[in-house]
Amino acid sequence: MSWHTKPSSTSRVPVSATPFVNAAQKERWTREILPRYAQSQGALMPILHEVQHEHRCIPLQAMVEIAAFLGIHPAQVFDTVSFYEEFHAEKVGKCVIGVCQSIACEVCNHKEILDRVRTRLGIEPHETTADGRFTLLSMECLGSCDTAPVALFGETLHENLTVAKLDALLDEAVRNVDAGH
Ligand code: FES
Repeated sequence: MSWHTKPSSTSRVPVSATPFVNAAQKERWTREILPRYAQSQGALMPILHEVQHEHRCIPLQAMVEIAAFLGIHPAQVFDTVSFYEEFHAEKVGKCVIGVCQSIACEVCNHKEILDRVRTRLGIEPHETTADGRFTLLSMECLGSCDTAPVALFGETLHENLTVAKLDALLDEAVRNVDAGH
């Protein structure tokens, strides 16, 4: 095995003219979120949730802006974003489908569920459809092993999945995305 290295220390962060974090947001975070925490770093998670939800991603520029707002190093924001599966540096689809791949789901035939989503959407895990409607993730234990196999559609957990149940969920997800929900 060989390691491939990237010159990260000298690479430039692409910067768009429009900031991801605007003045009104900062004012609201200062008023509503920061007072809840003893240290500004404590506000990182709720802020990341908000930015992820609003932009469907937390790109490097947003990480730098959030770090500047909180007075922490951008690497601390990057560490957090890269650690949690719900945060994405690249834009995800309007509907994110996360199929659990951990042991309980694996023995309860998660592969059949995953393959069905792959076939219907025409994408592999960690890819987004070309029309930007769906992202498929293969996720670690979602904490519902007794109802395996399970999958997340957005923030909703669906349990005891079968292919028939999954087909109905996919049909509903298509309708919701097309309706802009
Ligand atoms: S292994 Fe799938 S929910 Fe725990």
